[in-house]
Amino acid sequence: MIFTDKQINVLLIEDEEFDVRRVIKTIEPFSDQIKICQIVSNGKAAIDYLENNKGKIHVVILDYQIAGGLMGETLIQKIKELDSSIQINVITKMTINLTDFNFANKLLKAGAYWYCTKYPGDIEDFIYQPTDFIISLFHAYDKCILERERLQSLQKFKRNVEDILVQKKIVGESPIMLELKEDIDRLAKSNINLLIRGASGTGKELVAYNIHYRSDRKYENFVVVNCGGIPENLVESELFGYEKGAFTGADKRKLGFFELANHGTIFLDEITELPLPAQVKLLRVIQEGEIEKIGRTETIKVDVRIIAATNRNIEQEVREKRFREDLYYRLNVLSIEVPLLRKRISDIPLLIDYFLTNISIDMGRDKPYIPEETMKVFLNYDWPGNVRELKNVVQRILFRAGNSVKPEEAIKAISYGENLSPDRDDIKSLFNQNNILQLKDAERIFREKYFKFVRENSSSDKEAAQKLGLAPSNYHRMAKELGMK
Ligand SMILES: Nc1ncnc2c1ncn2[C@@H]1O[C@H](COP(=O)(O)OP(=O)(O)OP(=O)(O)O)[C@@H](O)[C@H]1O
Ligand SMILES: [Mg+2]
Repeated sequence: MIFTDKQINVLLIEDEEFDVRRVIKTIEPFSDQIKICQIVSNGKAAIDYLENNKGKIHVVILDYQIAGGLMGETLIQKIKELDSSIQINVITKMTINLTDFNFANKLLKAGAYWYCTKYPGDIEDFIYQPTDFIISLFHAYDKCILERERLQSLQKFKRNVEDILVQKKIVGESPIMLELKEDIDRLAKSNINLLIRGASGTGKELVAYNIHYRSDRKYENFVVVNCGGIPENLVESELFGYEKGAFTGADKRKLGFFELANHGTIFLDEITELPLPAQVKLLRVIQEGEIEKIGRTETIKVDVRIIAATNRNIEQEVREKRFREDLYYRLNVLSIEVPLLRKRISDIPLLIDYFLTNISIDMGRDKPYIPEETMKVFLNYDWPGNVRELKNVVQRILFRAGNSVKPEEAIKAISYGENLSPDRDDIKSLFNQNNILQLKDAERIFREKYFKFVRENSSSDKEAAQKLGLAPSNYHRMAKELGMK
């Protein structure tokens, strides 16, 4: 036989001496590979043994009729509950009816792997046909190992999801945030497309993460797409991909974001920035559940949940014909609003503490103390940049502050950039003999003013980026750094 280096640990549950001997004799030729670790005569002893030797036993050989209350199907179920990877091979007394399929079925349903009818008592050397009996043990062992590997990788996935949910924790206990968290749980259970609204920095992306990783799609991909960050001429190939040779330069097949997100969730951030032709294609994905890849004649079916987000007034974009009305209705089946930070003032101390704790750990320093007067500064400020701004302020504080943060330090961290130049509207004030700034600070002030100026004189971010000669992705990154997003 070809059974190689397997080492099978067996627990034998049998209360008749005679049958114990017959089992041992049957597997004798393979005793160096099939090891009977323990022999017990009742169900309770079996459970005790398995509890004390977790992970050791691969296969249980179980006599169906044993003394004591715990036996048969109940015992099988108990063992499976304890460790579902253990395989149970049942041996029973000769049943009267040789075609009692119901009986066999009941055993399998309870969780048994295999079953056989013991030889009559006049056969003293074997419990059952030895080759069949031994093969069944090897197969049961293989199933046990496969099952353990499967459980292990599932465990790994679960741990990953748990880790992500810890990293992406939504801090906040204010009534409005508790309501939002309830909405998230409800939305995670549904499979409907969704629009997340909210001002810049309120936590829209964080909410999207939480919905995906609490949903049935959690073990599948969550793909984040910043619609404003993709150059207009590349949007379609990024979203839907292309086939090799679809156009000059397409030297290999490219998977689009929708294919990457198949069975999972796609997060379309800044959805109003999507160019109109791409909006048409997106509508088609939603309606037909299929994508048209560039350079491919047949469509591809995809199953993707769409979560879109915007910090714009999307209804106005629809009125002004920059956003398709039909797409708007398709995306806005359900919507959720992430509130401004100033609408949840009671969360400010919680958020400050959360970021202080986490960033201090990252920086390897002690967490500073925030006295009441300093907290007042934070509570009275109106946080136009919402949670992102608060996080940045905490970061600045941690760079400078000692063990206790003074109110002035808080004010300075909040008005970072503003106090560098007394007159923020006058670029000439940068050239002040009494207040010579480092180049990077002067540049920052100039950039901020110039970005604002150009944006105010453009109809969209896209146009502003174009005027500045920046790729949209760079524009977005820089605007964010300047606190404009
Ligand atoms: N309630 C919260 N608890 C903990 N962290 C938060 C919370 N809200 C936001 N954050 C953090 O603040 C930052 C900004 O959040 P996020 O990127 O989700 O905002 P956004 O609404 O998508 O912003 P934008 O419109 O600028 O894209 C992130 O680092 C995020 O983890
Ligand atoms: Mg965002």
